[in-house]
Amino acid sequence: MIRIKQLAYIVAECDEPERWRRFAEDVVGLSAHDAPDGGLYLKMDERCHRIAVQRGPENRYRASGWQLADEDAFESAAEFLQRSGTAFERGSAELCDARKVQALLLLRDPSGNQHELFWGHQSDFTRFVSPVGVPAFVTGTLGVGHTVLPAPHFDATWAFFQDVLGFGLADLYRHRYTSDPAEPLKRIYFTHCANGRHHSLALYEGEVPSGCVHAMVEVPSMDEVGRAYDRMLKHDIKLMATLGRHVNDQVISFYMLTPSNFALEFGTGGAVIDWDRHNVFEATAVSQWGHDFSVGFG
Ligand SMILES: [Fe+2]
Repeated sequence: MIRIKQLAYIVAECDEPERWRRFAEDVVGLSAHDAPDGGLYLKMDERCHRIAVQRGPENRYRASGWQLADEDAFESAAEFLQRSGTAFERGSAELCDARKVQALLLLRDPSGNQHELFWGHQSDFTRFVSPVGVPAFVTGTLGVGHTVLPAPHFDATWAFFQDVLGFGLADLYRHRYTSDPAEPLKRIYFTHCANGRHHSLALYEGEVPSGCVHAMVEVPSMDEVGRAYDRMLKHDIKLMATLGRHVNDQVISFYMLTPSNFALEFGTGGAVIDWDRHNVFEATAVSQWGHDFSVGFG
């Protein structure tokens, strides 16, 4: 079984990385650093990057970077993928350099989302200095945050994450997005890897043109969420969902549109779960209050 330790980074593609620099530095509060390929590394802790922005023709989400503990875990993962009949490629030296990792496996899930499994991130150990004074982001062993990916081939995709990549179900939600009772319910599965973050990955039963419903980053206090909200207004960034608190991971957050056409959830207060004590449940609401998604997704 593959044991993924964390969602270590995400990769976004943008035709104008300068737009991401402005969004990252002025609104989110990350520090942006030039990448050799004309893209950007966005830093939020002592690692070189937690978000990589690639220059490319499309404005979309490109890949999720999943970390394995060490070289042994990485080579066992490659063997397990082989045995399970999963197609994958080893990343070139050039790609490993670009992602700043020792070695990398590239694969797609049954819904076509691109994943990168790696070991051994580089760290420059320079202090994270936010250009707008955000003191820190909540990362460490919990990873960058979470990502919500489209899974139109839902059953096959969830089976792949559960049986091949070793994810566990935290809870599930089923929703009808119109008032038409004939519309089939669509599932969202909130799933975890080998850390306490309630979900590092959620799978949404539907298509999303930008390749991602949203990605989430976390700050240590509500004041930092409020300050980010002010910066979003000041810089005319589109609000995608109003402030609210999720029932499952307990995060208080709002959502805004990134230059790569997926939403960024900016929140605080994420629950850290002891999986031995956890019982899977089905929630019939996603939020205790707030989170009006109709402002951006409607
Ligand atoms: Fe979220």
